[in-house]
Amino acid sequence: MSKKRVLSGVQPTGALHIGNWLGAIRNWVELQNEYDTYVCVVDLHAITVPHNPEKLKSDTLSTAALYLACGMDPKKCSIFVQSHIPAHSELCWLLNCVTPLNWMERMIQFKEKALKQGDNVSLGLLDYPVLMAADILLYDADLVPVGEDQKQHLELARDIAQQRINSRFRKGNNPVLKVPKPLIMKEGAKIMSLLNGTSKMSKSDPNEGSRIGLLDTADTIQKKIKKAKTDQHFGLEFNNPNRPESDNLLGIYSMVTNQSREIVAKECFDIGWGKFKPILTDALIDSLLPIQQKYNTLIEDRSELNKVLKEGTDNANKLSGQTLLRVKQALGFLERINS
Ligand code: AMP
Ligand code: TRP
Repeated sequence: MSKKRVLSGVQPTGALHIGNWLGAIRNWVELQNEYDTYVCVVDLHAITVPHNPEKLKSDTLSTAALYLACGMDPKKCSIFVQSHIPAHSELCWLLNCVTPLNWMERMIQFKEKALKQGDNVSLGLLDYPVLMAADILLYDADLVPVGEDQKQHLELARDIAQQRINSRFRKGNNPVLKVPKPLIMKEGAKIMSLLNGTSKMSKSDPNEGSRIGLLDTADTIQKKIKKAKTDQHFGLEFNNPNRPESDNLLGIYSMVTNQSREIVAKECFDIGWGKFKPILTDALIDSLLPIQQKYNTLIEDRSELNKVLKEGTDNANKLSGQTLLRVKQALGFLERINS
């Protein structure tokens, strides 16, 4: 039996943080051992809010390099840049034409992001989940590992595939598109802001101090943890609804040291914030160091990165081209004559 397939991606919208790593990329590193894995840098998504062209370019490159630095292995997975595969935009258009507008207006992330944009909301921001559906459906993905915030977008991709394409356009028994499933890891699914334990750590938070970047220096990490929000209680613990910061920072500590929650809870139940913070700082610095070293090597000499992206693009092109053709045939497009 052939391996099941996994597809995922992260937007190149600024420096990746430990939420992206612990909630997404670190899971991919495990999954690639078992699944046929495709991961892309979703640059077309990054322009759904106003962007800076120079920054888009460098963020795309650094995101791809971070995939490798975090342990994605080109022997086990395909890594590519979304905009290098025209099929994403093309399938997005086809799906746009069968997706009801009111499905889109319900998307929570759209509503949140639109609020932040004020008068400047692009049509692309509304359409973003359809592009994401195209990303997933093009590769016949079985599983899509994402953080909890993306669950609604996954549901949309499933609904489009099932209700709007397969049930309307299938001929015979074979579905046109594979219906994917979300894979939401419990641990790390939601890393919270350092400054507010009830709001998600996010690249778009204007306050840099709310997140630890994967490329933050030891000095920066130390300063950010020093300023991280605490509470009046002594000792760290999980699952106390009145202590979201304790839950979040202890959770991060458990993940970056690869220790179980039980073990770290035991280690930290009788130490105060003043003692815990330097321990967490050291653990973060130690866990990010190997990623940063590999990243620096990859960025200094681009040849490995270029080779990996070229191979990934070739694989992605082949697979997505077949799916796009299948959808176009099902929808009734006249076939192109190749001379
Ligand atoms: P984004 O930063 O929105 O492009 O997200 C990229 C990936 O990281 C997605 O799979 C998200 O679900 C995941 N992610 C983003 N922020 C967090 C967070 N604070 N905690 C856990 N996962 C996250
Ligand atoms: N929307 C996702 C996010 O913000 C990124 C994304 C785009 C994605 N296309 C995808 C994730 C396909 C998984 C699969 O995190």
